[in-house]
Formats: sequence, structure tokens, C-alpha cells
Amino acid sequence: MNFQYQSGFGNEFSTEAIAGSLPKGQNSPQKAPFALYAEQFSGSPFTAPRTTNRRSWLYRIRPSVTHKPFKQISNGLLRSAPFNETDATPNQLRWDPLPMPKEQLDFIDGIVTMASNGDVGMCVGAGIHIYMANAPMRDRFFYNADGEMLIVPERGRLMIHTELGVLEVTPGEICVLHRGLKFSVGLPDGEARGYICENYGAHFKLPDLGLIGANGLANSRDFQIPVAAYEDRDGDFRVVAKFQGNLWEAVIDHSPLDVVAWHGNYAPYKYDLANYNAVNTVSFDHPDPSIFTVLTSPSDTPGTANVDFVIFPPRWMVAEHTFRPPYFHRNVMSEFMGLIFGHYDAKAEGFVPGGASLHNCMSGHGPDVEAYEKASNADLKPQRYENTLAFMFETRFVMRPTKFAMETASLQKDYLDCWQGLKKHFKQG
Ligand SMILES: [Fe+2]
Repeated sequence: MNFQYQSGFGNEFSTEAIAGSLPKGQNSPQKAPFALYAEQFSGSPFTAPRTTNRRSWLYRIRPSVTHKPFKQISNGLLRSAPFNETDATPNQLRWDPLPMPKEQLDFIDGIVTMASNGDVGMCVGAGIHIYMANAPMRDRFFYNADGEMLIVPERGRLMIHTELGVLEVTPGEICVLHRGLKFSVGLPDGEARGYICENYGAHFKLPDLGLIGANGLANSRDFQIPVAAYEDRDGDFRVVAKFQGNLWEAVIDHSPLDVVAWHGNYAPYKYDLANYNAVNTVSFDHPDPSIFTVLTSPSDTPGTANVDFVIFPPRWMVAEHTFRPPYFHRNVMSEFMGLIFGHYDAKAEGFVPGGASLHNCMSGHGPDVEAYEKASNADLKPQRYENTLAFMFETRFVMRPTKFAMETASLQKDYLDCWQGLKKHFKQG
């Protein structure tokens, strides 16, 4: 199978797995080359402005409609907003890594929802999930009609076979699988765990850079898009769809990953977070953490993201006469954090790779006692933060945790204690 990439974010791509399989000069010829079917895959309304219009033309062995009827199946631990199995909580929440399952679970069966907001039917908000898989998807394919999936691996590579080509995604990289894209996930390392932001809203895009200028943060050329790769395989297979919060399954007698050639700008992509060009202060104080935004899903309100994907990568800290860790904070936006590897500078312990935290709207948070004491008394030489890669899904709506998230043994009952030792130091005069 072809295993190469093209580069650029949101570009128009043309790729064919067989020379001559892409029609020349038109999208829908009377007869496409090699007797392929032409199918348009629309990720935006036909009439969306050019800057946000997303579609690709697929040239495939059979059109997507050739499957048996869908039947609803169990949602397992997958949830979509709105749900009311718990109440949203102002309490600060933190979780240890979820233990890997003992039973065999593939990528789809191994998804558990931690929290969600908005309304999947209204195309606003997001679902936040953790996946834990130890079995490849065998003869099973999945697509998500509810949103695009930003996948953040923490343990184990993912070999994602999609309709538009193959993505190998390693911890430290991310990928985005668009709404509607069919795919199947293999596990080259035998098991995998990580985070998913299921974005119900507008497509993730690169943030505008304003006064930063034309370069910096995540650069377009570092995004990798697969080249066409197809399989011509008949058998007794299943297509699973996530549709309005529920899972549905249909029998299909062939692999739907049968796209021989495609062109367009609606395509999955991956990005190595090591390529992120971090920008930060060279004098004093902090820019707000939005300076570390990788991707943003905008809302209709300017500057108010449906969800942002923000990272805290290895970097130099040089701020003078400044408390360098993330400041104490309360936020109208809600913050879900995870750790891909290493150590996060606001916490001395308790926040480890594979773990997570949720600080909902206006709930206070910040460095714990040990991190506060250390940073308040540190010698402020230039210092390189190595071996650290935390991230945040920051979203405009309050996140409601799932029943699973509130009842799992991984929920740290004593999280608030990490701040209770922050004593009064104030002395008048
Ligand atoms: Fe914050």
C-alpha cells in the first residue's frame, strides 16, 4: 500500500494510486478512467465561501451507497452532547490514566467519553474522549457524521487506513479525520491510548497570526496529507457510523477504502507537534496560553472558539522578574487538559501522561503548592523546558463530564488538596 504524504494545510491536492486514474480537466466525465465511479465528498455547504469551502472528488471502485441498511448498535461508553446523566460541576477534576482494557477492544470499541458540550444536532460544541485499543479493526470501518476527530496519541502508533490514503500517527503527532471519512485503524505496536476531540463545529483551521506576521506557530507546510491508496477487497465487512450521537452498523460486501484517485481540499491530515514554532515572551510576564494555539474551530462570535487545540511544548523560558509557570487563572472558557509525555510545569505531581484534568467555566486553577514555592524562589536564568508535551482543548461552553468520568476509579478524589497548602503570606506594612 502506498504510504507517502503531500504537504500543506487546506490546499488543493491531486493524487492517483494508478497512473491515469484521475480524470483530466473535469470532475465527472461520462466514463471515468478504469471504469471508476466519480463521487463528490462535501465537507461544507456547496455555497460556502471559497476560504471555507471543503470538498474532494473521489474516483472509486464502487460508490458509497452500496451497503445494506444501517441498524443501531450499542453506544458502549460513547456519549454525545446533550446528555443529562450527570450535572456539570464547578469542581476542578483530574484523572489518572485509564487502565488499559483486559478484553480485546479495537479503536472504536475502546473509545470512552469523558466530557462533552454543545449540541451535536446543532453543530456546536465538542466531545472529549479517551481511546484505549489493543486489537486492530478487522474488516470493520468507521465514519463519524457528527464531527471531525482530532486524535492525540499518547501511547502506541496508529496506522489509519482512510478512504483517501494511509496515515501513520505516532505519539507526538496529531491527526484530523474529517466528518464522514471512512477509516480503519491498525495498531503497529499492539496497543494504543490517547485523546480525541470530536469537533461538532466548524472545521479546525490554522489561527490567524495578526501582528506575529506571515510565519510561526503551526506552519502550513508541515501538515501532511496522504496520497491515494486503495484496497480492492471483497468479504463480509461492517461499516459503523456515528450519527446524531448513536452508533449504527451496516453490512457491506467490500472494503469501502476503494478510492483509487482523488483531488480536492477535504482530506485528512497529520502534524508533528515537534514542528510547532512556539512564540513567547523575551522580556517579562506571559502571553496568554492562546499564543500556543495549534488549531482553532471558530464560532460565529469573533475570538470565541468553539474549541481550540493548544499545546505546551518543549521551549526556552527566559522571562525576567516573572513567575514563570502558568498563572493562577479563572476562565470563561472551559479547559480540558492532557499530557502526551513528560512533566507539566504547573504541577509537581499527579498529572501524568495519559491523565487528564477539567477546569470548567470560572473554576480557579493554577500551580500547586510545590510548583508555586519552587517558581517563586527560582533563580531566573534562561531555562530550557525539556521532556514536556501537554495540551489543552479549550472550549467556549461548559463541559459536562460523563457518568463514567465521574465514577471511574481514575478520578482523583483529592485533587483539590494540591492547592490547599497555598497559605496566606500577606503582611500589612
Ligand atoms: Fe487556565
